[in-house]
Amino acid sequence: MAPSDPVVADPAADPAADMPADWAALWEALLRARAVPSAAAGPAGPCSPASAAWLELYKPLLDARQAPGGSDARPWVLAQLGQSLDGCVATSAGDSYFVTGAHSLLHLHRLRALCDAVLVGAGTVAVDNPQLTTRRVPGPHPVRVVLDPAARLDGSARLLRDGAAPTLWLCDSRHAAAARERLAAASAEVLAVDGLLDAAEPARGPDLARAFAALATRGLRVMLVEGGGVTVSRCLEAGLLDRLHLVIAPVIIGTGRRGLQHPGPARMADCLRPPTRRLALGEDMLWDLDLRGPTGFATTPG
Ligand SMILES: NC(=O)c1ccc[n+]([C@@H]2O[C@H](COP(=O)([O-])OP(=O)(O)OC[C@H]3O[C@@H](n4cnc5c(N)ncnc54)[C@H](OP(=O)(O)O)[C@@H]3O)[C@@H](O)[C@H]2O)c1
Repeated sequence: MAPSDPVVADPAADPAADMPADWAALWEALLRARAVPSAAAGPAGPCSPASAAWLELYKPLLDARQAPGGSDARPWVLAQLGQSLDGCVATSAGDSYFVTGAHSLLHLHRLRALCDAVLVGAGTVAVDNPQLTTRRVPGPHPVRVVLDPAARLDGSARLLRDGAAPTLWLCDSRHAAAARERLAAASAEVLAVDGLLDAAEPARGPDLARAFAALATRGLRVMLVEGGGVTVSRCLEAGLLDRLHLVIAPVIIGTGRRGLQHPGPARMADCLRPPTRRLALGEDMLWDLDLRGPTGFATTPG
């Protein structure tokens, strides 16, 4: 079981000290662009080559805000997983504190600050009891969303009760009353979605397009899916991801909990091989996959 309140990935590391000198000003500019979508997504003048690489990494999240879209437009979705060299996001016991290092953790908090909402699966909430706030960086907390189609959680999770940020417990309408009863006076809200689970075949998993559509009607247009492996894989399989950040740490877990685990094609030639960029995050390597680029998904969700 993971510790309930992890503090830092590596207490000896100070990832902020490794950022370029002009980074703080650039981050402020990015937060301004997040708040005012019509503002330019970047600095007024030139920035250092190191900051330019960071800008390129975060700019798609700001560009997504400028895309036309009413309340019925599907959100733009980025998923991120921190995994071992052998493709695991946690040990077999579910311990994921920490797979990746301090630099990667800071990057994750930046992603949260640039998104409207962060979504995790119920398995992650049950095991990690996460906070999903931006406490390591300046910037707003995203709306926190727990995807729990059959409302299997008992309602005691910290993020449902701490009031640190608006929080949605997203479940199928048929399970909403049970979730509301468990929440009682807690500050989180149950978001009931009709047809999230197929009544005849609930084992098929949730209809994620419906889930994201329900979030879009709440004005949540730029989303971070932060795990676990089952949830990110389901989003990928449904063709709902625009971008994927895979952060690979130099560690071998062995028989652990898998990251991506969707059924792939039989032929290598049919596998996803989207355009990528790489960026070192301390000892880890971030792979930034543009899933809407050539040889990624088709341009519309599958
Ligand atoms: N390294 C990383 O980046 C990262 C990020 C997030 C999480 N994690 C780790 O990933 C693991 C969780 O991920 P995951 O892929 O197993 O699940 P997940 O994607 O977080 O959640 C979906 C899965 O959880 C199951 N589930 C639903 N309610 C549950 C409950 N109350 N208790 C336990 N499981 C429940 C679901 O089963 P049904 O579909 O049958 O309902 C489904 O298989 C944890 O060990 C966590 O530490 C790692």
